[in-house]
Amino acid sequence: MRKRIIAGNWKMNKNVTEAVELATEIKAGHDNSDVDVVVCPPFTDLYAVHQVIKDSPIALGAQDVFWEDKGAYTGQISADMLKSVGCRYVIIGHSERRQYFAETDETVNKKIKKALEYELTPIVCAGELLQEREAGETEMVVERQVRGAFDGVSKADAVDVVIAYEPVWAIGTGKVATPEQAQQVHKFIRDLLAKLYDREFADALRIQYGGSMKPENAAELLTREDIDGGLIGGASLKADSFLGIVNA
Ligand code: PGA
Repeated sequence: MRKRIIAGNWKMNKNVTEAVELATEIKAGHDNSDVDVVVCPPFTDLYAVHQVIKDSPIALGAQDVFWEDKGAYTGQISADMLKSVGCRYVIIGHSERRQYFAETDETVNKKIKKALEYELTPIVCAGELLQEREAGETEMVVERQVRGAFDGVSKADAVDVVIAYEPVWAIGTGKVATPEQAQQVHKFIRDLLAKLYDREFADALRIQYGGSMKPENAAELLTREDIDGGLIGGASLKADSFLGIVNA
């Protein structure tokens, strides 16, 4: 049985004061031990949020990581730095990073390897653009992204990865994929992982759905066979809607 995992991607929202307030509210309201819960605030909030949640079952994640250990890389954040502020997870290859910050399948792969080296669990994002879906290219695009992400990653290391399937047209648009659309791609990804590694591996790996997930649509998505959780943007910025999804 795969344990569900709900992660909140706060994106570029919340200063330290606001982040501490939100983390405190989530901690106070969270008592569902059937679900792994992760919050991913901006870098500048990580330390402060860790102080709030460190003795709780809520885990801390970052929204990106750089692939080098250290050095002259102005503006970058290393895996070691993330570990040192209490991170256990890191989102890698979010479509916004691909779209605005030149993230490629190759840089995603390098970041995954570095995160795994530091025992950070990567939450690896994949998903098609609207024009790609309309052109019937969804599976081709997702396959390229997943193959690229896991390139050269051993099975022993890859077991710790979480995948987030996020159709780009559903992110922040209020336009959620139907449970059928999501399930179809999740199953496609799981079958691909069985080809890349093996069936047992594929059956154990958790695949989240992301894209306009809300308390109102979460239950329907989360009951599908291959949907093991959610990566939540907008609805993770308020404790009640985030916990509404955790408890869906
Ligand atoms: P959304 O974002 O829930 O606001 O659509 C999801 C994400 O980008 O991870």
